[in-house]
Amino acid sequence: MKKPGSNLEDIARRFRGLRVGILGDLMLDELLRGEATRISPEAPVPVVLMRDPGRREIFPGGAGNVAANVAALGGKAAVFGAIGDDEAGRRLKTLLADREIDATGLVSEPGRITPHKTRIAAHQHQLVRLDVEQPRPVTAQSERLLARRFARRVAELDALIISDYLKGSVTTDLASQISAAARRRGIPVLVDPKPEHPEVCEGATVATPNLHEAESMARTPLRDPEGRQAAAPSLRATLGCSALLITRGGDGMTLVESDGGVREIPSHPRPVYDVTGAGDTVIAVMALALAAGASLTDAASLANTAGGCVVLKFGTAVIELQELLSALQPHR
Ligand SMILES: Nc1ncnc2c1ncn2[C@@H]1O[C@H](COP(=O)(O)OP(=O)(O)OP(=O)(O)O)[C@@H](O)[C@H]1O
Ligand SMILES: [Mg+2]
Repeated sequence: MKKPGSNLEDIARRFRGLRVGILGDLMLDELLRGEATRISPEAPVPVVLMRDPGRREIFPGGAGNVAANVAALGGKAAVFGAIGDDEAGRRLKTLLADREIDATGLVSEPGRITPHKTRIAAHQHQLVRLDVEQPRPVTAQSERLLARRFARRVAELDALIISDYLKGSVTTDLASQISAAARRRGIPVLVDPKPEHPEVCEGATVATPNLHEAESMARTPLRDPEGRQAAAPSLRATLGCSALLITRGGDGMTLVESDGGVREIPSHPRPVYDVTGAGDTVIAVMALALAAGASLTDAASLANTAGGCVVLKFGTAVIELQELLSALQPHR
């Protein structure tokens, strides 16, 4: 007899080697951790003392974190998007190479600024975040280049993720061309949308907004279960995607399928350290699971387990395949 959860385990074991293309906004995330023991004599702000320079960590952020999650789960990630020809862009490329993420689909635009977020934290508490960025849509030339590069690679892919962080790599035209090319190949298309660009969800296999994003797109509250049952299916239909997965933080997820069926997936309650990037983990796991042939329900259950694990970690974190497999063990 099969153990409970072993179906999900079987799916996760098929992640290895699956190839996922990711179109989106890549960023550089930096985390500086120290101790805050006194107030500065210069201004009423804490002084963060960093004794160990090794506590300065950098990670691929945004769509780069989605790719890092795919790679940590055993998949092969290939990223597409525009970055700047700058120091942050070079550091980002090194981080991608370290994780064996294919960055040949990245376009370096002269004059563009690679978004760079720096978080300063003391004792697991974030004190301040500095964002260096100047979001703007990619140039028409980059759009053509990205579409061409994607078209050359699409036959090698098992899934496509579009990860919009509103920094300009996900334009309506580019997303629609790339999404159509992926659909012609019959691979699943997953979109993590922002309410400013709901049209990017058109034709997708599944869109994965969080509750806040879903509420702004639906223009109605979705927090209470009755409201959600009533309004979530029409949001799915308006967006034009086959399925809609609304992530609801510590409350779990809501899956809306194309027949209008609404399924609530409760979360695994966790002592949360840091929710940053849980959505990136969710879409990475969904993509790998659908590419592995899982049903939407099984893919969402796996993504829910993975999201519950990643919030236990501080910083822009990923979940490794082995961690996901052990979280699926019945004794957990
Ligand atoms: N506190 C929590 N406890 C357990 N699971 C959680 C918690 N927070 C998030 N999760 C899991 O992670 C999923 C995604 O979280 P959330 O809805 O916060 O995404 P998000 O807002 O897109 O995150 P981000 O944009 O920071 O990546 C949830 O649906 C759930 O499965
Ligand atoms: Mg999100």
